[in-house]
Amino acid sequence: MIWEAQAPSNIALIKYMGKQDAKRNLPDNASLSYTLDKLITTVILEPIESEQDRWEPLVSSSGDHPISLTQLAVDRFLQHLNLMKQQYEYTGSLIVRSKNNFPQGVGIASSASSFAALTKCAVLALSSLTDRQPLSDQAQAQLSRRGSGSSCRSFYRPWCLWEEDEVSVVTTPYPCLIHQVVLVDCEVKLVSSSEAHQRVRTSPHYAGRPARAQSRLINLLEALNTQAWDRMYEICYAEFMDMHRLFETASTPFSYMTTRCKDLLEAVATYWREKKDGPLVTMDAGATLHLLYRPDQDKLAQTFKETVLKKHVVL
Ligand code: DP6
Repeated sequence: MIWEAQAPSNIALIKYMGKQDAKRNLPDNASLSYTLDKLITTVILEPIESEQDRWEPLVSSSGDHPISLTQLAVDRFLQHLNLMKQQYEYTGSLIVRSKNNFPQGVGIASSASSFAALTKCAVLALSSLTDRQPLSDQAQAQLSRRGSGSSCRSFYRPWCLWEEDEVSVVTTPYPCLIHQVVLVDCEVKLVSSSEAHQRVRTSPHYAGRPARAQSRLINLLEALNTQAWDRMYEICYAEFMDMHRLFETASTPFSYMTTRCKDLLEAVATYWREKKDGPLVTMDAGATLHLLYRPDQDKLAQTFKETVLKKHVVL
């Protein structure tokens, strides 16, 4: 018996950064994301005769990227499997195999897609092994959130709103966007998101952060619904810069805003100033830019890749 599930990653335009309850991954502010259907984690589960669960990279010949996880990351993944097993009161052991269809260690967070895929696969396997009903999407998203917060948003598409312990789909006039990930500085040392959530709370700017995020969320939803693309660009820009300022002003500061990132952001801004149009841009906890284009900007996406972004790897 073997079960397989896949889940996509997602990119937040209003960021989850700072937790009111770290044990349950309850955020200090609501976040809004666009689901990245092309960046996928696959998880396979199989019962094993063993005292303990085990993780292994899933090896395939289809050009997917093998994952290597630190012992800490493996423990965290297996801990989540254990939470799922407790839900189903299942006591047997399982082997988990996983792979991403995108490269590792280049600043694309894989925890959202990994934990969502593990949750989905565990529900398939455990409901079958214990002869119980599968959990609803909402219940799965809640459980996945406890493994890694942002993974709860990968259960809904194309847009997802996560507020306290509620996750829901958001309907907008932009159901389908073109997404580019620009790998700007792969060698920048990553502070894990979980650590970033703790460190930002020590920034003097953190006090007003939930209110700022909430006000941007309201404005962004309005801009989305009225198709005010230029307004969306401004709000998204201000939002990720706010998060990066928290990183840089934490009591132990850290930064992903390298000169190359700044140059690229400036190139995007210049394009916007000249053409009064362009892609939305955002950055997560990495020296990586995410660009989102409307479907009618498909030629622009191609031109950008060949000109502004030509020195960088674009996925
Ligand atoms: C910067 O979901 O990775 O990508 O809940 O500790 O696993 P944990 O954190 P995680 O945080 C994601 C942070 C972010 C912004 C976002 O995706 O909203």
